[in-house]
Amino acid sequence: MKAIVLFGSPGSGKGTQAKLLTQCLKVPHISTGDMLRERVRGAELGNAVAETMQSGALVSDELVNAMVEERLARPDTADGFILDGYPRTLAQADRLIRWLDERGVREVVVHLAVDYNVIIARLMGRRQCPRCGTLYNLASQPPHKAGFCDLDGARLVIREDDSEPVIRERLDSYERQTRPVWEHLRAVGRRVIELDASAGTPEVVFQEICQAIEVVQPAPPEK
Ligand code: AP5
Ligand code: MG
Repeated sequence: MKAIVLFGSPGSGKGTQAKLLTQCLKVPHISTGDMLRERVRGAELGNAVAETMQSGALVSDELVNAMVEERLARPDTADGFILDGYPRTLAQADRLIRWLDERGVREVVVHLAVDYNVIIARLMGRRQCPRCGTLYNLASQPPHKAGFCDLDGARLVIREDDSEPVIRERLDSYERQTRPVWEHLRAVGRRVIELDASAGTPEVVFQEICQAIEVVQPAPPEK
């Protein structure tokens, strides 16, 4: 059972690393941000949730806890899962710990620590494929053809909350509500790992995560 919790501020690379880990471990990537955006687009969630997300604040614990529990109950999580962006409050952390302990699941929490100035630059340069979800960065991982996805040719989009004032709000929510979760997880003795994810490329950070959680990577395909 591989239960990995990717923890870190906005722009720390949770989504990027979750995509690499999910390919390697063949367990689902559960991103609360992606799930919320999908449900807002599909009008399953109303304007109030969309407005909260666009302001950079967190949505309610009740909504997110219910969404995650419903997702974790699906059979594809039997061999493990990668949580990205959850838990983000102490109430969410307590709920998750109870869920894990009741099932005897031993998780590892990986904290991607990134310098704030790096975060702003990364998020201002982020682009994403609306069709397949591939992440790009104008500075560090540009697409081959400017503005279009390498994999399916769709026009890349900028996330609505990636404007500088909203990024600052998101960082503020992180400091007030989410950073204490890290202290809490350490204090109650969960298995936690902190990595400096400011300078290395996504591939380097991925190698470090694999080493830290002792995942043996498959050999690269022969050329
Ligand atoms: P969410 O979608 O989770 O956003 P976030 O936490 O702000 O994180 P991001 O997705 O912006 O960053 P990331 O860490 O995934 O970085 P990425 O890999 O993309 O949440 C959005 C909103 O939903 C919240 O504000 C809230 O309203 C709501 N929400 C979600 N979960 C919630 C919860 N649990 N409770 C309540 N509300 C919730 O990388 C960023 C960029 O950097 C990319 O361009 C990437 O290519 C680049 N990059 C990545 N790694 C590197 C590297 N090593 N070197 C150089 N560039 C890199
Ligand atoms: Mg993300």
